[in-house]
Amino acid sequence: MCGIVGAVAERNITAILLEGLKRLEYRGYDSAGVAVFSNNGTLERVRRNGKVAELEQALAGEPLVGRLGIAHTRWATHGAPCERNAHPHFSGSDLAVVHNGIIENHEALREQLKGLGYVFTSDTDTEVIAHLLQHKLKEQSDLTAALKSTVKELHGAYGLAVISAKQPDRLVAARSGSPLVIGLGLGENFLASDQLALRQVTDRFMYLEEGDIAEIRRDSVHIWDVNGQTVERETVQYRDGAEAADKGEYRHYMLKEIHEQPAVVQRTLENRLGHDHVLVQAFGPQAAELFAKVRNVQIVACGTSYHAGMVARYWLESLAGIPCQVEVASEFRYRKVVVQPDTLFVSISQSGETADTLAALRNAKELGFLGSLAICNVGISSLVRESDLTLLTQAGREIGVASTKAFTTQLVGLLLLTLSLGQVRGTLEAGVEAQLVEELRRLPTRLGEALAMDTTIEKVAELFADKHHTLFLGRGAQFPVAMEGALKLKEISYIHAEAYPAGELKHGPLALVDNDMPVVTVAPNNELLEKLKSNLQEVRARGGELVVFADEQANMSDGEGTHVINMPHINDVLAPILYTIPLQLLSYYVAVLKGTDVDQPRNLAKSVTVE
Ligand code: F6R
Repeated sequence: MCGIVGAVAERNITAILLEGLKRLEYRGYDSAGVAVFSNNGTLERVRRNGKVAELEQALAGEPLVGRLGIAHTRWATHGAPCERNAHPHFSGSDLAVVHNGIIENHEALREQLKGLGYVFTSDTDTEVIAHLLQHKLKEQSDLTAALKSTVKELHGAYGLAVISAKQPDRLVAARSGSPLVIGLGLGENFLASDQLALRQVTDRFMYLEEGDIAEIRRDSVHIWDVNGQTVERETVQYRDGAEAADKGEYRHYMLKEIHEQPAVVQRTLENRLGHDHVLVQAFGPQAAELFAKVRNVQIVACGTSYHAGMVARYWLESLAGIPCQVEVASEFRYRKVVVQPDTLFVSISQSGETADTLAALRNAKELGFLGSLAICNVGISSLVRESDLTLLTQAGREIGVASTKAFTTQLVGLLLLTLSLGQVRGTLEAGVEAQLVEELRRLPTRLGEALAMDTTIEKVAELFADKHHTLFLGRGAQFPVAMEGALKLKEISYIHAEAYPAGELKHGPLALVDNDMPVVTVAPNNELLEKLKSNLQEVRARGGELVVFADEQANMSDGEGTHVINMPHINDVLAPILYTIPLQLLSYYVAVLKGTDVDQPRNLAKSVTVE
């Protein structure tokens, strides 16, 4: 997704803007640009299609020097990825705008502004903001006042930052549907769409809220809320030295994040487990009272987070006896939903800023749900702020675009939810909670054992490097794990991968199986194992090569065309968490063999803040 960085200081800010953009690269983008009010009194801009490194190279050749500037990484929504469409966008030679989000009424505004004589040089929705603001400046010369009047005419989502050569003492910004944070310095201030971009210059942040307009000068910050009232926003001091945005000893962020899973699962469990039970208050002070009333659960999420929700459905129904529905947010938000009485709305999101998930939560509030719970990795996200209850996963910042540690910590959070609901409602079988609490305590060690299979899996990955299609099979709660495995493989290696519940094989997909289509299966030692083994025979009989991740007690071994990788034995309830690890590693090593951009796969963004 797009990223914004801005600065107003007494020193040259170009290097700060560039470093900020580099720190936002993980979000995914296709072009980048910077505009600076230069020391000779004009706005100057450099934009490049492609990576920030190309922008950096261009700036080395034609340096920009100034004390006020804005910069942007663009992820194309309106208009192809190219230099002409890259931000900042200008109106005239004195006004520059960067924008995250989508302006839905851009066509009407464009026609209107063309009629007024404005000439468009890009295909973006953003350029209408620049010209509209320029037009408003004719009526009211103050930049901040003109921005306030401009945003009233914008429909859609925006986080935007503006500078003007005529008022070079300030940076102005507006937030509606797209996050913005002000970084506070000493005699200098900054702006970004994500505080990570500014950690190099400050650890003090002020988060803009929906509808806020901000005027940021070197030595002051003024904020007006959605009603135009002056407001103070809390200053937050950010401390997390341990989460430096570097790869450490690892070749890619993704591999680092895969290997962090024992530690972050451990962290997600901290302060949430009693001796033999889950601490329900971990979900918030009102959680016990609310959970006691829950008779149904509706889970909504996207992508990997949706897969976590699918696993949770098996847990909620089989352990806590609570009916559960799971739906992708982009569908849920647009359909007429019938809400069963006493249904808890649960959203799951790594970022907490995914546009569809947020919109689904906002719709849910109108639909008569009992309450809302967010399982989220970012405590300062919109999803968390707008939900009644929150369980924060403690995955730490996830930089690889393909989600790994966020998923396993979400699963941990969802299992804590299942046990909490069962505990409060008295629907768990005797001893189950104590046993699972014990197993959860052992989980980080088990995950470490799975990670130790790294080199075995690296070898197995060779089977896939020249393949174009792969099938993933699982049964029960391992079906969503197979879906997540298939998603990882397609995201980062670009190999077509599909997941099926193994029992569905002969209802269609078996037709695809031949010796060019490897089949990956997760086979824990549960009551479905024998049925799964029969499904695997069906694959072998068609010449399909099998890779099976099997419980060490499942009595499965290598054979012709069958590669069995033994997994440490684990309680069946926790098996989805453990079996995720080898599938992540498999995708990772296949991608490395194929030489793809593992951390920033093509066409994808880390946080999907537009529809
Ligand atoms: C896949 C992936 C995406 C996200 C999805 C939801 O590896 O990362 O599918 O899971 O875009 O994002 P969050 O969890 O931030 O709402």
